[in-house]
Amino acid sequence: MARCIVTRKLPFDALERLRAEHEVEVWRGAMPPSPAELRGLAAGAEGILSMLTDAIDRGLIDACPELRAVANFAVGTDNIDVAYATERGIAVGNTPGVLTETTADLAFALLLAVSRRIVESAGSVRQGEWWTWEPAGWLGHDVHDATLGIVGPGLIGEAVARRGEGFGMRILRSGREPGSGRVSLEELLAESDFVSLHCPLTPETRGLIGEAALMQMKQSAILINTARGEVVDSEALRKGLELGWIAGAGLDVTDPEPLPGYHPLLGAPNLTVVPHIGSASHATRGRMAAMAVDNLLAALAGAPMPSPVR
Ligand code: GLV
Ligand code: GLV
Repeated sequence: MARCIVTRKLPFDALERLRAEHEVEVWRGAMPPSPAELRGLAAGAEGILSMLTDAIDRGLIDACPELRAVANFAVGTDNIDVAYATERGIAVGNTPGVLTETTADLAFALLLAVSRRIVESAGSVRQGEWWTWEPAGWLGHDVHDATLGIVGPGLIGEAVARRGEGFGMRILRSGREPGSGRVSLEELLAESDFVSLHCPLTPETRGLIGEAALMQMKQSAILINTARGEVVDSEALRKGLELGWIAGAGLDVTDPEPLPGYHPLLGAPNLTVVPHIGSASHATRGRMAAMAVDNLLAALAGAPMPSPVR
């Protein structure tokens, strides 16, 4: 029996399998633990089931000499110092695959919502402002036959590309690995009507979409970010939307995150922001919990994690 901590309440069956084998302590707060609270909670823990809101950094790792396994309840692992954990012999796991289609659905929902102005026009109905049908009212941008640029095409990017193909879109992909229709980022930005971000957050992708990138995009283009907020420079995006460098943006992730209601970015036109809900379907969050528990159980039993991160 090992001491394990779970950093948020996880109302999914999988947790029972962890409780059956280990001593489990769950953080009960509605908000994530602060770094100090996380240290207190993690003291003496051999396993951590962590969220993307927890910094599993050098300081935390050093404060947990017993730690053997970190299972992140996410596919992204930018909240974890994976290199340092690995150096310390701590196994790290994530939840790839199970959330691919659900996140791609959300990316496409944002793409459709922004291009056809769903959120603003629906809001106007609720405000009692639907006076009449107008010939040039609520004009948006066509999705069908448009060019969709996928930045960083991994599993989720490819799933979004498939959805685009279903809408008759032309697909461009940029990314480091050459082949199968890859173009340079510059070419993708210049040619795409929709640019959808699917790269992990790394030192190379932080701020990838800043002023220069936004100015390379078409003025009619729409930016979709379901990757990580820090891939986009928020201030540059605010400026770009206000000055009309691009036509709109749909964000599931932001910098900072959460984005406070008074943040200047929210004053920009043609912007739809949802609160990091890419993987939030009943079925997918349940599968992510199962996968994180499987990772933790394996590592604590001295076996390789089924979904390791290196
Ligand atoms: C969500 O953002 C994830 O990384 O799973
Ligand atoms: C729109 O509703 C139309 O009939 O063109």
